[in-house]
Amino acid sequence: MSGGIAVETLSEAEARTELARLANEIARANTAYHGEDTPEISDADYDALKARNAAIEAAFPHLKRSDSPSEQVGASPSEAFSKVTHEQRMLSLGNAFDAGEVAEFNARIRRYLGLGPESPLTYTAEPKIDGLSLSLRYENGRLTQAATRGDGQVGENVTANARTIDDIPEEISDAPALLEVRGEVYMSHADFAALNVRQTERGAKTFANPRNAAAGSLRQLDATITQARPLRFFAYAWGALSEPLAETQMGAIDRLEALGFVTNDMTRLCDGPKEMLAHYETIEQARATLGYDIDGVVYKVNDLGLQARLGYRSTTPRWAVAHKFPAELAWTRLEAIDIQVGRTGALSPVARLAPVTVGGVVVSNATLHNEDYIAGRDNKGMEIRDGKDIRVGDWVQVYRAGDVIPKIADVDLAKRPEGAAPYEFPTVCPECGSDATREEGDAIRRCTGGLICPAQAVEKLKHFVSRAAFDIEGLGAKQVEMFHADDILPVREPADIFTLRARDAKNVAKLAKRDGWGETSAGNLFQAIEDKREIEMSRLLFALGIRHVGEIAAQDLARHYQSWEALTFALDTARPAALARRAADEAADAERRAAAEDGRRARVSEARARAFAARDVPDESAAVWDDLIAADGIGPVMALSLSDAFANPDERGAIERLVAELRSILPPETRADDSPVAGKTVVFTGSLEKMTRAEAKARAESLGAKVSGSVSAKTDLLVAGPGAGSKAVKAAELGIETIDEDGWLSLIGDA
Ligand code: IVH
Repeated sequence: MSGGIAVETLSEAEARTELARLANEIARANTAYHGEDTPEISDADYDALKARNAAIEAAFPHLKRSDSPSEQVGASPSEAFSKVTHEQRMLSLGNAFDAGEVAEFNARIRRYLGLGPESPLTYTAEPKIDGLSLSLRYENGRLTQAATRGDGQVGENVTANARTIDDIPEEISDAPALLEVRGEVYMSHADFAALNVRQTERGAKTFANPRNAAAGSLRQLDATITQARPLRFFAYAWGALSEPLAETQMGAIDRLEALGFVTNDMTRLCDGPKEMLAHYETIEQARATLGYDIDGVVYKVNDLGLQARLGYRSTTPRWAVAHKFPAELAWTRLEAIDIQVGRTGALSPVARLAPVTVGGVVVSNATLHNEDYIAGRDNKGMEIRDGKDIRVGDWVQVYRAGDVIPKIADVDLAKRPEGAAPYEFPTVCPECGSDATREEGDAIRRCTGGLICPAQAVEKLKHFVSRAAFDIEGLGAKQVEMFHADDILPVREPADIFTLRARDAKNVAKLAKRDGWGETSAGNLFQAIEDKREIEMSRLLFALGIRHVGEIAAQDLARHYQSWEALTFALDTARPAALARRAADEAADAERRAAAEDGRRARVSEARARAFAARDVPDESAAVWDDLIAADGIGPVMALSLSDAFANPDERGAIERLVAELRSILPPETRADDSPVAGKTVVFTGSLEKMTRAEAKARAESLGAKVSGSVSAKTDLLVAGPGAGSKAVKAAELGIETIDEDGWLSLIGDA
C-alpha cells in the first residue's frame, strides 16, 4: 500500500501527488483509529504510510504540506488547535476544605468590604462540576467561537467541536450583542461507561474517568469524533459582555437559562455560612445519584456590584470559593521509594505503589514530600500519622482530592513486613554524587552540585523553555533532554539554545539530517528560537528558575523595576544589605535558641541590630534593599534568593551569557494603560470611608498604579482621608499632588 516507486526516482509532480494521497490516507486512518469506526488498516501498514511520507518529505522538503502528517506525530492536539486569547481571563477558584475555611472566606469578604456582622450578605451555592471549562462567544446571538481555558489567558479554539454539543445553542435571541457564556463540559456516568465499552470492543484506549473522557473528546482534531461522543454543558459564569446580564449572580444564571442554556438546578441562595454548609450537605448527599461527577460546592457572592468591588487576586476571584469534598482513600503496598532531583536541586521522594484505584483513577505514584514526612513529622517537628514512619513494603493508605497529587494518609503497622528497615534518606545526590544538604529550617534536602548536576541542569532547561517562560515552539521537555545529552550540538545552559543555529551551520552532522528531524522541522525550530531573542522582562526573570521567583513574582519585579538594567543595578547595589539581612536573621535564630536553652527571654531585635550593624552596610545599599523588599509582592525571602542567584558567579555568568544573546528585553505593559493612574505611585493615608484600605490598594493596582506605604520623591499622588498626619505634611513639603477619597473615586471613574 505504501511501497510505490523508489523515492529518488520520483518527479516533483509525482512527489506532490503522492504526498497529498498520503496525507489523505493517514488522516482517514487516524479518524478510524481514534474515532467510532473500527481501524481500517493494521498498525504496521499505518507505520509504513508514515515512513513513506517522511521519506518523500526528506527528499522534497519544499513540498511538505501545511497539513503534513509528520507534523502531527506525537504533537498533542493542543498544538494543532489555533490559539485564542481570552478577552477576559478565565480564572480558577480558591479552595476551602472545611467549615472553618468557609467561615474564614465569609469573614475575609466582610472585612474587605467593611461590612459589619449585622449587614446582610447573600451567596449562591451550586455543585462544582468535574469537567473542563469552556468559554462560548456569541456575537449578535450567533455562536462565533468556543475556547478552552488553557492557561487562563490563551486557550484553544474548539469551535467546531463545541458546535456538536446539544446543550450548546448555535443561536440565541434577546441576548446582549456580545456575550461570552462560560461553563463546564462534562460527560455523564452512563455515557462514560457506554463509551468505554465501545472503546474496549474496538481495541481503542479506554478513559480513566468521565473528566478525561470529556477532555479527550472535546480536544479532537476531527469534530466528527466529538460529535459521536455524548458531551454536555452546564453554564455557570460569563466573560466579556456588551451589557450586564442582571444585578445578581442568581439573576444572571436565570437569564442564561432563559436564553436557552442548561444551568444546574441545585443552585441555591444562602444567607451566610450556616445555610451554605447546609446546602453543601444536601449536595454531598445527592452526589451519588446525580449521574455526573462533582467534586465540591462553589459559593459566590450574589450581588454583582459587590463582586466587582471584591475583584480578583492573581488567578482567583475574591468573591468565590470552591468547598471541596473530602479526599478519597484506598490501601495499597509501597513497592519502592525513588528520589527525583528538581531544578532547584530539591531531592523529592516519590512513592512507587502497587497500582490501586482511588475514586475512579488508577494511582501508582504518590508524593512523599521530604525526609521528615517519611519519618512521620511535619515541618514544625510535630507528629503526623501518629508518628508512624513509612517503610518500603508497608501497606499505606493513599488519598487524592481533586487534581492534587496523591498523598499517603496512613500506614498499617500490623501489616509491616518483618525486617522492614526505616528509610534512609540519601545524603548525596543520586544523579551527580554531590553532597545533598539541608539548611536550617528547610525541610528539603538539596543537591549542592548546581549546574554540574545533570538532573538540575535539565530541569532548569525544561523550565526555561516552558509555556510561561520562553515558550519556544518545537523545544519541549523531550527535545531539551535530547540536546542536553547531545555531544555534537550540546545545550547545557540557556544561552546554548541561542547559539544552536550558528553551531549547526558549522557542523557536518546537520540537525536536519538526523532521525526524527528534517529541513523543515530544524528550520522551524531555529526560527522559533530567533523569535524569542525579543522577550518580556517578566518571562526572562521567571525562566531563570530562581527559587521563590514564580510567575507572579517575576511580573511584580518587572513592574517594579521596569528595565533589566534597573533590576540588575538594584540587585548589585543591594547585595551588602542582603548579606547583612541574612546575618541578622541568623543572629536572631541563634539568640532564640540560646535563650530557650538558658530559659531567659530572647533579645531578638538587639541580636539582629548588632549583626546588621557589624556589616557596615552603605546607606545606598540599605535604601535599595528596603525598596526591593517593600515592592508589591516581594518579601525578604524572595529578595534574598534573587540576590544570591545574581551574586553567584556561575549563575551570574550563565545569565549574562544568555542576556548577551537576546536582542531586547521588553518592559512590562502597564495594565489598563488607558487608566489615569497607570504607572503612577500612589499612597493612601488617613481613614477611607467608602472602601477599605485593602480594597483601595487592590483597585489601584488593577488600574496599573503602584501602591506604596510611604511618601517619597517618587510618589505621584497622595490620597488623604480624615486624620491624615505626617504623610500629608511630607507630601505638601515635597509638592506632591494630594486629593481626598472622593477626588480619587472620580479620578478613576468610580464615583
Ligand atoms: S465559577 C471566576 N462555578 O472549577 C470563577 N466554576 O477549580 C469562574 N467549575 O475553572 C468559575 N463548576 O472550570 C465555577 N459551578 C461552578 C463550577 C466551576 C466547575 C470549574 C471551573 C473552574 C474550576 C476551578
